[in-house]
Amino acid sequence: MELMKINGNTYYIKAPTNAGVYLFNNGDCLLIDSCFTKSQALQMDKILKENDFNLRYIINTHTHLDHCRGNLYFQEAYPECKVYASEKERPFMENPYLLGAIFFSASPLKHLNPAPLSFPVDHYLEPGIHKIGGQPFKVIPLPGHTRGHIGIVTPDRVCFLGDSLFSRQVIRKYSLPYLFDLEESIKTLHFLPEIDADHFLISHEEGVIASKDLPDLVNYNLANIEKFQKQILSLLQQPLTKEQLVKEISLNNNIALNLVEYHVIQTTVSAFLTYLNQKGLIAYTLDEGRLYFQHSM
Ligand SMILES: [Fe+2]
Repeated sequence: MELMKINGNTYYIKAPTNAGVYLFNNGDCLLIDSCFTKSQALQMDKILKENDFNLRYIINTHTHLDHCRGNLYFQEAYPECKVYASEKERPFMENPYLLGAIFFSASPLKHLNPAPLSFPVDHYLEPGIHKIGGQPFKVIPLPGHTRGHIGIVTPDRVCFLGDSLFSRQVIRKYSLPYLFDLEESIKTLHFLPEIDADHFLISHEEGVIASKDLPDLVNYNLANIEKFQKQILSLLQQPLTKEQLVKEISLNNNIALNLVEYHVIQTTVSAFLTYLNQKGLIAYTLDEGRLYFQHSM
């Protein structure tokens, strides 16, 4: 991990889940996302201490554990630290077991539920400008990856995009990254280049993106969605259950699946099925206890 300057008082810690850092003039700082494990949080904390940054605030872009589980360490280490999250993510911050329940459609298998009982939050944020530590931060709704996902623009015109946009490396590695609501994701992707900021940071890989380079990465993400949309419609020339579709997609694209990755793909495939059904492109039928989907054109 390493502290990198982006612009003015805005930095980020390059990490498996990049964290934004805004330094206030009095030495206090704000983190945007707090990483996954306690050992990652300890590494981040070491960097803050080495630079004499005093952690006072955390904003979480969304409730996935690699973005907010570090809160638990930081809130214990810095009792003064205030946590902010999106109002729409409130049910998940208050009940993180819902993450596993979405994966499993019921009380989840043990290994799908590595979350604590709750993530304490001091202030839930609605879209708009919020003064934190006396400085204005713009909260922008970026739904799709999760329903309440937000982006944050700092006073230095740096926008932290969380997982609303994926790096080329992530798309090459995972083929089909997690999406909860495909229609919202597509709308969000089209909206990203309209954000009034000069620098953008996404959470995994890629580093800082200049505003002029953002449309290319947006188009890369949209093209990947289009590719899987075509692939799913082609596979659904014959009726398939969701489980069969997940199998075909993972084999066609050489996606190796562990328990969590299987459920990530299954959720994303479900998001495609909802979207394609809403577009009138696929229909579903129940037959002998199985739910089949098929291209309806
Ligand atoms: Fe995420």
